[in-house]
Amino acid sequence: MIQNIKAEILASRKIGHDIFLLKLNAPSITETAQPGQFVHIRCSETTDPLLRRPISIHDINSDGELTLIYHVKGKGTSWLSKREAGKKLDILGPIGRGFTLTENKRVALVAGGLGSIPLFFLAKKAAEKNNEVDFFIGAQSKGCLLRIDELKALNINLYIATDDGSEGFKGFITQLWEQYLKNGKVYDRAYSCGPKPQMAAFSRLAIKASLPAEVSLEENMACGIGACRGCVTTIQDSYGNKHYENVCTCGPVFDATTVCWGD
Ligand SMILES: Cc1cc2nc3c(=O)[nH]c(=O)nc-3n(C[C@H](O)[C@H](O)[C@H](O)COP(=O)(O)OP(=O)(O)OC[C@H]3O[C@@H](n4cnc5c(N)ncnc54)[C@H](O)[C@@H]3O)c2cc1C
Ligand code: FES
Repeated sequence: MIQNIKAEILASRKIGHDIFLLKLNAPSITETAQPGQFVHIRCSETTDPLLRRPISIHDINSDGELTLIYHVKGKGTSWLSKREAGKKLDILGPIGRGFTLTENKRVALVAGGLGSIPLFFLAKKAAEKNNEVDFFIGAQSKGCLLRIDELKALNINLYIATDDGSEGFKGFITQLWEQYLKNGKVYDRAYSCGPKPQMAAFSRLAIKASLPAEVSLEENMACGIGACRGCVTTIQDSYGNKHYENVCTCGPVFDATTVCWGD
């Protein structure tokens, strides 16, 4: 059930260029949080900006600590970056449909850019459930790769690609994943989060490999609870019939075969 709480900030620090890590005390949210879900944060003490900002759940721990990572984009995230430890934040969560977790399987996680933020929590949970986890992480360059040391500390296999070749494979992360698939690597399920073209390429590869796959979509959100229809995306069923679904409550995680990528 979605909680509306005033969560104390335990830590807030810059971890990259315009990238911040925020630790909150939020046991009533971490109690039920699932990988792929997000929280909706009030980013003002006034009415500007009026709308909450959605941020994915990056990690949780058994002490009720909720970790978020965000890129400062505009007014809301800029306000958030100036909040210090000890202050309280008005947050709603956990919200949305998360990823489908498997046990004792082989899974691939394919992340690009900020898409690695929610997939970190998924990788951790999947490893805890005794899955063999291959985490493919891509970024523009080495300096944009997020939380590599923390990922290495998880019980997973890590594969890196950068657009400029400054770390790992030179090229898109989907190109690297495609090489593994072509070389006969077999998975039971795959997951992706990142820029739309990357998730579209991921979905095509997963469908070609007849692999059950899920993607986490991003749309601008207003209410975050299914009331305003401001976040709809086009979804198609197996007969090709199209309809709209709210990303906030029906997603943000969707079956990759049902998403219309507009190409
Ligand atoms: C389900 C979900 C989970 C998200 N998780 C994270 C996360 O873990 N970390 C993170 O850094 N960001 C995440 N985002 C994106 C984040 O919500 C936006 O960057 C944020 O709302 C921008 O608010 P702002 O007031 O700072 O910027 P605004 O002033 O509102 O906008 C500044 C710029 O950011 C763009 N922008 C606004 N909203 C979005 C959006 N939803 N997606 C992409 N661009 C946007 C605008 O088009 C504009 O160009 C997530 C979005 C969704 C829908
Ligand atoms: S943001 Fe209002 S319905 Fe999704």
